Amino acid sequence: MATAAVSASIGERRPARTPVEIPVQNDLTVLPPLAREMLERLPDPLMLVNGGDRVFFANRAMRDVIGVGIERKHVSAVLRNPSVLEALARTGHSGEPSSIDFVVRVPIERHYQAFTARVSSEPSVVMLLMHDLTSIRRTEQMRVDFIANASHELRTPLAAVSGFIETLKGPARDDEEARDKFLDIMGVEAERMRRLIEDLMSLTRIELNEHVPPHGEVSVEAVVRQAAAALSPLAKADGITIVVDVTETLPNVPGERDELVQIFQNLIHNAIKYGRENGEVRITLRQQAAIGRRGPEALVIASVKDEGEGIPAEAIPRLTERFYRVDVKRSRERGGTGLGLAIVKHIVNRHNGKMQIESRPGEGSIFTITLPAVKKQADAPVMEML
Ligand SMILES: Nc1ncnc2c1ncn2[C@@H]1O[C@H](COP(=O)(O)OP(=O)(O)OP(=O)(O)O)[C@@H](O)[C@H]1O
Ligand SMILES: [Mg+2]
Repeated sequence: MATAAVSASIGERRPARTPVEIPVQNDLTVLPPLAREMLERLPDPLMLVNGGDRVFFANRAMRDVIGVGIERKHVSAVLRNPSVLEALARTGHSGEPSSIDFVVRVPIERHYQAFTARVSSEPSVVMLLMHDLTSIRRTEQMRVDFIANASHELRTPLAAVSGFIETLKGPARDDEEARDKFLDIMGVEAERMRRLIEDLMSLTRIELNEHVPPHGEVSVEAVVRQAAAALSPLAKADGITIVVDVTETLPNVPGERDELVQIFQNLIHNAIKYGRENGEVRITLRQQAAIGRRGPEALVIASVKDEGEGIPAEAIPRLTERFYRVDVKRSRERGGTGLGLAIVKHIVNRHNGKMQIESRPGEGSIFTITLPAVKKQADAPVMEML
């Protein structure tokens, strides 16, 4: 078998200065099978182009990018990017390697860094290796957007506070009524800035810890009741009744208590903010048996339901994006920063849980959190029981 023969030759001691095997024909069968297999399996797209600018070899990853049946075609027929073609030609002539960034726009936009190197001069064979930078570029873009959004969110209340300070120093200096009003507004804006900074820090802290499993054991019912009690004055102000519906004793979940309180505070707060005035916010707690990756497990399911206007279907997948708000004005009016659900998502991930969002415009929304329960202790060994 060809492969076996190649592996055997690898084990043999090579005589010194064995000439490196290079393809002498424009035919991929001249690549030793093992080398071909290795190139074929490389996760990065790679192609070899001969002196006549024909594609000599393209591995699987390359075929995934530019399509099958490209061997023996002229390179300009399979690669349309002028700068990559130019780099290939330059490297073919001069033997100088080069590296360029380029973008493939269809079927979906992908960013690559391409390396060209001449791997043989007689006959001329040039290698094109592509490194996928799409996720790095996306992360960079997200970081830029994040900083831009955070600065924008801070700039608005800061401009308001600065404006009122100027007014209070000047025209409103002796106007007692205006002074009280402006000081109140400044208080609200300063509070908004404080909340935003607190949320940003919370998000960073949770993101840093996302891979660290939580250590405590928490009663979801106690956590929900604590969050509901903290928000009841706010609910009362809108005539909203908070109902906690639990009909059974639930198992505890492994978790950080403060983080779980944060989940339910965010969800209940949203249900109040975006719910129906004089309506109801209902939190239902249940348990469910399920088969997980490691066998049978119990799940604790908590859903927060409101009777508000609901959320348009196209907005649902975007709700956990930082700073995303369906109605920016309404959220701002209620002191929202658009970070609440992003924080919830990270906490849920850290707790190995899931969040599901269901909503129909005009019929309210249901946010359901599923958390794995603490595993029951296996029967203790006899020795320990004695
Ligand atoms: N129960 C809900 N009903 C309708 N829309 C909702 C509900 N919960 C969230 N949303 C929408 O999702 C957006 C994002 O929610 P999120 O909690 O992340 O931010 P926020 O409430 O605007 O601000 P923050 O939570 O930082 O105070 C909200 O602005 C709102 O448009
Ligand atoms: Mg919120």
